[in-house]
Amino acid sequence: MSASTQSIREIVSTQPSAAQIFLRFDIDLCSHADESLIQACAELQLSVDQVLEKLADAEAQALGAAPVDPASLSTGRLIQHIVRVHHQRVRQELPGLAELAHKLAAKRGDRALELKNVEALVEELHADLLSHIQKEEQVLFPFISELEQNSKAGEPPAHACFGSVAQPISMMMDEHKSAGHTMAELRRLTHGFRPPEWACATHVALYGGLRAFDLDLEQHVHLENDVLFPLAIEMEAALNRRG
Ligand SMILES: [Fe+2]
Ligand SMILES: [Fe+2]
Repeated sequence: MSASTQSIREIVSTQPSAAQIFLRFDIDLCSHADESLIQACAELQLSVDQVLEKLADAEAQALGAAPVDPASLSTGRLIQHIVRVHHQRVRQELPGLAELAHKLAAKRGDRALELKNVEALVEELHADLLSHIQKEEQVLFPFISELEQNSKAGEPPAHACFGSVAQPISMMMDEHKSAGHTMAELRRLTHGFRPPEWACATHVALYGGLRAFDLDLEQHVHLENDVLFPLAIEMEAALNRRG
């Protein structure tokens, strides 16, 4: 069946990234849930082809986040991959998920009290992760790239105001732990991101989006904690031994 004849509810339950696109086009997930994409677009005077194109782009981008073999990447390429795939995901997905959580809490918060907590936790995750990735991109990752350059050039490590690279790494790992706790609490409150039987399409889209984001965050944190950070610590130690 083509996506254009599927209902809005069916599309968001099989493709979590679709919810963000519908939000962007102002296709309300609750009032249009049982309409086909063609019907919803006709009602809102939107081009079906344009919406389909954006849906396909979003899906392609989500698939691009498939796990990579980190051993095949240089430190610089690994940083590029983390920023392009995983940080991009934080910036693209979390604002939409926060908006869905807000709509859902306003509409169904009286029926399911946990939705208010879900809303607060998604907002917290959004604010914390935005500030976290900014610190990585502005401070830690440039410093690690410089360590890599120094290693190649056989020069001593650059001076950093924070002393050793281990210090910002430890701070970032604490923040990963805190984001992990927030996700665990969301998983608990939503019974493993499983919407109840009475769920509307907004509910289905939010839980599907959170489930996909949870998997992406797990891969993101694994690449930093278990691959990039140990590499940086080892590079710095080797430079200090040489110097
Ligand atoms: Fe990161
Ligand atoms: Fe991180």
